[in-house]
Amino acid sequence: MAVILDGKAVSERRLELLREAIDESGLSPRLATVLVGDDPASALYVRMKHQACERVHIGSINVTLPADATTARVVETVRRLNADPEINGILVQLPLPAGVDEEAVIEAVSPAKDVDGFHPCNLGRLFSGRPRYTPCTPAGIMTLLAEYGIDLAGRRAVVVGRSIDVGRPIAALLLNADATVTICHSRTKDLASVTREADIVVAAVGKPRFITAEMIGEGAVVVDVGTNRVEGRLLGDVDFDSVRERAAAITPVPGGVGPMTIATLMENTFAAARRQACGPAP
Ligand SMILES: NC(=O)c1ccc[n+]([C@@H]2O[C@H](COP(=O)([O-])OP(=O)(O)OC[C@H]3O[C@@H](n4cnc5c(N)ncnc54)[C@H](OP(=O)(O)O)[C@@H]3O)[C@@H](O)[C@H]2O)c1
Repeated sequence: MAVILDGKAVSERRLELLREAIDESGLSPRLATVLVGDDPASALYVRMKHQACERVHIGSINVTLPADATTARVVETVRRLNADPEINGILVQLPLPAGVDEEAVIEAVSPAKDVDGFHPCNLGRLFSGRPRYTPCTPAGIMTLLAEYGIDLAGRRAVVVGRSIDVGRPIAALLLNADATVTICHSRTKDLASVTREADIVVAAVGKPRFITAEMIGEGAVVVDVGTNRVEGRLLGDVDFDSVRERAAAITPVPGGVGPMTIATLMENTFAAARRQACGPAP
C-alpha cells in the first residue's frame, strides 16, 4: 500500500515556517491579485490566496475588473501594479475571459514581480536550468517530493500533459533534478506502455480517474495534479483506490498538490520581496 504524500500537512508546516521567516525579516511583502470577470471558481481561488497571505503576514490587495474588460484595460492595470513600489508580486488569475488576450497580459507582468512564473522570461530561465520564479504547482510538487526524500536523479519520470502551467514546467524541473523525462499528451501512442515504465508519474490531464492501476508500474511514485469536479466531488486524474495498491507513494486529491500550490505562491512572494529589497533585478 502506497505512502500518502500529504501535501496538506507539508504545506501547513511550510506556511508556519514562512510566517516566522517573514516576521523575522523586517520586510512587509505584498501580493496583488487581478481577477477579471465573475467566474466563481476563479473568485474562490483568489479568496484562498488572500487567506493564505493573511496567515503568513503577507499584505495583499485584489483588483477586480468586469468580464467585458478589454485587453488594454487589463494590461494597464498590470502596468500600474508593476510600477507600484509597495507591490512585490503580481498574480493574474487565469483563465481570463475569452475576449482578453491572455498572452499579452502574461507578458505585461514585470518578470521581477511574476510570482506565478508564467512570463516567457521566467519560463525561459526555468528551461535553461536557471529558474528564478517557477510556476507554483510544479514547484510545489518538487517541494513535496523533496520533503518525502524521494530521489529523482537518474530515475525515469513520465509527465502526462504538456500545458504551460503544469506539464511543461514540471518536466523541466524534473529534468533539472537529473531525472530522465518523457512528456506524454493526447497524441501519444500506447500511453500505458510508457507510463508503466516510469519510476515517477505526474498526471496533469484534467480527466477524472484517467490513470488506472494497469498504467502504473509496481513501486512507482504517482503525483496527481488533476482537480475535476464531478457531481459536487473533487476527483483527481488518478484512480486513487486502485493505483495506491501498486504505487510506492501517491498524492491524494484533495490534500495533495493543491495546498502545495498555494504555499509555493506565498514562498515566491516572499522571495520577490527579498530580491526587491536588494535592488532591481539584473
Ligand atoms: N492542484 C492544482 O493546484 C492545479 C493547478 C493547475 C491545474 N490543475 C488541474 O490539473 C489538471 C491539468 O491541468 P492543465 O492546466 O495542465 O490542463 P490542460 O491545459 O487542459 O492540459 C491537459 C493536458 O492533458 C493532455 N491530454 C488530454 N487528453 C489526453 C489523453 N487522452 N492522453 C494523454 N494526454 C492527454 C493534453 O494533451 P494535448 O496537449 O495534446 O491536448 C494536455 O497537454 C486539471 O484537472 C486542472 O484543474 C490543478
